[in-house]
Amino acid sequence: KEDLQIEAQKILDENAQEGGFTIPSKGLYPFQWKWDSGFIAIGLAHYDMKRAQQEISSLLDAQWENGFIPHIVFHNESDSYFPGPDFHQSFLHPLASKKYKTTGLTQPPVLGFVLEKMLEISKNASSVMSFIKTHIDKVYENHRYFYTNRDIHNEGLVYIYHNWESGTDNSPVWDEIWETVDAPQYTFQRKDTTHVDASQRPSDKEYNLYVHVIEIAKKYQYDDQKIAALSPFLVQDPLFNAMLIRSNEALMNLYKRIGGNQEKIDYLTHHQEKSKARFNEKLFDIDLNAYIYFDLRNNKPIRHITSSSFTPLYAGIPSKDRAEKLIQVLLDRFGGEDQYLCASFDPTSELYNPKKYWRGPIWMNLNWLLYQGLKRYEYEALAERVKNESIELITSSGFKEYFDARKAIQEASGRGYGGDNFSWSAALFIDLLH
Ligand code: DGY
Repeated sequence: KEDLQIEAQKILDENAQEGGFTIPSKGLYPFQWKWDSGFIAIGLAHYDMKRAQQEISSLLDAQWENGFIPHIVFHNESDSYFPGPDFHQSFLHPLASKKYKTTGLTQPPVLGFVLEKMLEISKNASSVMSFIKTHIDKVYENHRYFYTNRDIHNEGLVYIYHNWESGTDNSPVWDEIWETVDAPQYTFQRKDTTHVDASQRPSDKEYNLYVHVIEIAKKYQYDDQKIAALSPFLVQDPLFNAMLIRSNEALMNLYKRIGGNQEKIDYLTHHQEKSKARFNEKLFDIDLNAYIYFDLRNNKPIRHITSSSFTPLYAGIPSKDRAEKLIQVLLDRFGGEDQYLCASFDPTSELYNPKKYWRGPIWMNLNWLLYQGLKRYEYEALAERVKNESIELITSSGFKEYFDARKAIQEASGRGYGGDNFSWSAALFIDLLH
């Protein structure tokens, strides 16, 4: 395991870029991604706190004037990725970053709890605290952005307008939405399938839809109100909202530690209570006993269970009773003896595909979130299982992007798929070992 820790650090070092950020994986993802950077900073914090800080500050440097943080920052040029720096045209939005080309999409709001984790890991709390003091307001402004612009019913739940914002890109959860969308055929050249076997990536038809939704947002200059009114994809996602709630909590803890800042604490407290209550009301399905999704555009719940369904545990959202029911579902559907935890999509569903990106494989960041959630609710043995299985998968298959949950399968290439030397697999492996 020590050797593997050294290897994990080597991957993070090799993926480091000038400008202080880390790419997720060479070739496949050659820029800075928002939630990747958050998880990467947690790993870096264990051996190079200065670099962990640079990871976060280089991302925040691309924050828009309205508080928005984009999902990709194009610090550098690279033609190995589609849709790249010139496709997104974030400059169409009047408040976009003037310094960098970015996307006009975001990703789950992990930065609040990442700052708190960095402090927890730190052996020199005062130097990390001074970093936090100079950066926390940017994260706070990001949360204000969400509540101001993306909570259309003023109910404490924010929307995403694109599947790439969910982080769980091609989940079967979105299939029903795509069926409602009538998109023209766009001309573009995918690059991802030149790096990774197409059977492990989204389909061309899906990519055409992904492009279509961005073209609509571009047509309206990435204006949030117009997007809310017109985007064919408009969803309240349990992972996204759970991350916002967990990060709200972290910001409140950190502001209390800093002192003062009462107005910000009050603002966060108000939204926190409202968000948690509504989350439990609207996103919990009492027949499935699990957290699900709400399709705002078509005004109906999307009743699938995914690894995102368990992330509310980390945010302290369910009551103890509800947590117990949720964990029973986890064990029944995802946790049989023949499976590693935790598949990204319900293995009992006919839509489950154990090799295809977010349609089934295990992802280390979702396993990490599950591990934290189980610990929070004191399911110690199950938390240990998730941790040990995560370590085992990496030990047997390397720092791949995603992993096959089926124990019976033994491919010549191991059970890992997608990109190689994947940064957050390495970073979270380091954290799990500690
Ligand atoms: C991709 O290109 O697959 C990314 O996940 C989009 O952010």
